[in-house]
Amino acid sequence: MAPKIRIDLFSDTMTKPTAGMRRFMCEAEVGDEQKGEDPTVNLLQEMTAELLGKEAALFLPSGTMCNQIAIKLHCRPGDEVLLDRTAHPLNSEAGGPAVLAGAIVSGLPGERGVFTAEQVKAAVRPITRYQPKTRLVSVEQTANMGGGTIWPLRTIQEVCAVARQHHLFTHMDGARLFNAVIAAGISAKQYAADFDSAWVDLSKGLGAPVGAVLTGSKDFILEAWQWKQRLGGAMRQAGIIAAAGVYALKHHVERLAEDHAHAKLLAEGLAEIPGLKLNPKDVETNIVIFDIAQTGLTPQALLERFLEHGLRMSPVFPTRLRAVTHLDVSRAQVEEAAQIVRRVLQG
Ligand SMILES: Cc1ncc(COP(=O)(O)O)c(C=O)c1O
Repeated sequence: MAPKIRIDLFSDTMTKPTAGMRRFMCEAEVGDEQKGEDPTVNLLQEMTAELLGKEAALFLPSGTMCNQIAIKLHCRPGDEVLLDRTAHPLNSEAGGPAVLAGAIVSGLPGERGVFTAEQVKAAVRPITRYQPKTRLVSVEQTANMGGGTIWPLRTIQEVCAVARQHHLFTHMDGARLFNAVIAAGISAKQYAADFDSAWVDLSKGLGAPVGAVLTGSKDFILEAWQWKQRLGGAMRQAGIIAAAGVYALKHHVERLAEDHAHAKLLAEGLAEIPGLKLNPKDVETNIVIFDIAQTGLTPQALLERFLEHGLRMSPVFPTRLRAVTHLDVSRAQVEEAAQIVRRVLQG
């Protein structure tokens, strides 16, 4: 029998809806979302548009669909998207940009998931009939596989300024935007201001079971609606699940600071263990990525040993592991996680 997972640091997608969230979902007012008649979906969209300072918003089943619809709307077949080489649409969306938008995706070699305006400038292709047209720049706030790195506001502004000079569209994958907001004390509106499109995930640190919200201009969202319909993402009485998002935006944003403190604590614990390489100063939000090369073990072998003690993390191949703190992980569990890792490595 598989061992019971007691401390799940696999991802912040592992949260279960709290009792308060479940009650709020039960009591949600609902209607036909496709007709614009679901008051809770409408409320969630209004709240998100307001928070991100955009004209309009659209509730979608997932962050992946937000990225894919945005890329589809910004690009024509043969166009190029610039993003970091670790970014989600390049590595974890099943080649969606190629399939749906006919776009090629070029990964820039950023530093822990963050690239610079100079890198964008150097990557934008000259307009010739031979080359794909560089059309879109996408930024991931926070940079997941960079280790939850916060994109500094200044870097965002510089990158978007270069994009505008070259007539490129700009997109923000805000899967963990609110982690950046809480850690840096900069509003979602400020972070989103320079982007043509931006979205937030409800099912990660915010603790909702499903959903993400894409924002942009009224025209952009009108077109996004058509793609939501086309892809089968249009729902009916979706207020039941949108309610979780409304609840999360009201109750689960400020508390992200706890997850950040827990991640820092974990990083400090891990950094003291011989064989592991990480700098706790690099941990800015709720993600800890550390190198295990010096242990001589593979990620898979170590993860299996952790699991025997009820601890789950995820691999970042070839030689790193990722641990993510969230709503369902306590300070005591984080302390225990570091002890388990020490025990496994020191026999
Ligand atoms: C940075 C980033 N973007 C996009 C996604 C996709 O979100 P979803 O799982 O809601 O499709 C994820 C999910 O892990 C992510 O980490």
